[in-house]
Amino acid sequence: MQTQILPVNARSLALAKEILLAGGLVAFHTETVYGLGADARNDEAVRSVFAVKGRPADNPLIAHVHPDYDISRIVDGEPPYAAALRRAFLPGPLTMVYPSKGKVSRFVSCGLDTLSVRVPASPAAQAFLRAADIPVVAPSANLSKHVSPVTAQHVYDDFAGKIPLILDGGRCEGGIESTVLDCTGPVPQILRAGLVTREMIAAVAGDCGVYHMKEGEKPKSPGMAYKHYSPRCRTALFAAEEGALAEYAREEASGGTPYLLCTEQTARRHPGLRVLSLGETPEEMAANLYARLREGERCATELVAVLPEARGGVMDGVLNRLTRACGGTVNET
Ligand code: TXA
Ligand code: MG
Repeated sequence: MQTQILPVNARSLALAKEILLAGGLVAFHTETVYGLGADARNDEAVRSVFAVKGRPADNPLIAHVHPDYDISRIVDGEPPYAAALRRAFLPGPLTMVYPSKGKVSRFVSCGLDTLSVRVPASPAAQAFLRAADIPVVAPSANLSKHVSPVTAQHVYDDFAGKIPLILDGGRCEGGIESTVLDCTGPVPQILRAGLVTREMIAAVAGDCGVYHMKEGEKPKSPGMAYKHYSPRCRTALFAAEEGALAEYAREEASGGTPYLLCTEQTARRHPGLRVLSLGETPEEMAANLYARLREGERCATELVAVLPEARGGVMDGVLNRLTRACGGTVNET
């Protein structure tokens, strides 16, 4: 199969709709990361998303719709705070999990009695979703476990020859995936941190919990249980600069090509080292993280990351992705 990368225009949108309605896959831009889209109502199309990505069969998908789509067609009611959250943050990088059963293919939610729904803000995503005018399931358009894609080229690198079309909407400016928020209980609960922060949600809903998986428990959001976001080179994450510099020196002494992955402030202190800078602010770090991880896997034998100091807000999402990309552990020394 030949994979076309096309700009978003009337012709490519018509082609995208044709592919979707025939059960095929179309990758598209959103404000967070690129998505791998399929018709949420079509069992075979949904199953092929899992197959092409190599995604575990128990990790549910998000249904994407345009801002004028009537979500009562796909969800079974909502708690009172949900409408306020929608008004405050949608379209935008917030995915809301609603009670729902039997409204889309049963393969979307992997047996759960819920459906996650997202209304992206990106004009390219909205043009695509309006053209299709159906709920479109879309995981991030990367091979399972690999780093999420923030350019059309990243999608191509993972799926060339495996999908027919990538709609190129430019670089994703948000850079980390949407906040996933459980809206089935009396208080909303964050399942995955993102650009819409706990503080922002609590300010509108009155309160906002954060879900932490307990040892041995079946996770509420199955995606949390899997290895994720990993570059194809070795990685190590350090709480302090000294430990990272020692690891960098060790790798270099043994003939490797280490790169330091760190904030711009840290990078400035080490002009002599090979550095991949995440930027200065939490928003810059979110926007740059995946592109730097993908650059790193191409040029480094080992990515030696220094944990940024900032905490809270957008950093919850940045630190969650960075830690998981580096194998889930932070070296304290
Ligand atoms: O920003 C995003 O959300 C991107 C773009 C393409 O929209 N999509 C994305 O999809 O990140 P994916 O499949 O890579 O991650 C979806 C996450 C997973 O952790 C999954 O377990 C969780 O959302 N999820 C989906 N449906 C769920 C549900 N019904 N209940 C609980 N968690 C759910
Ligand atoms: Mg993903």
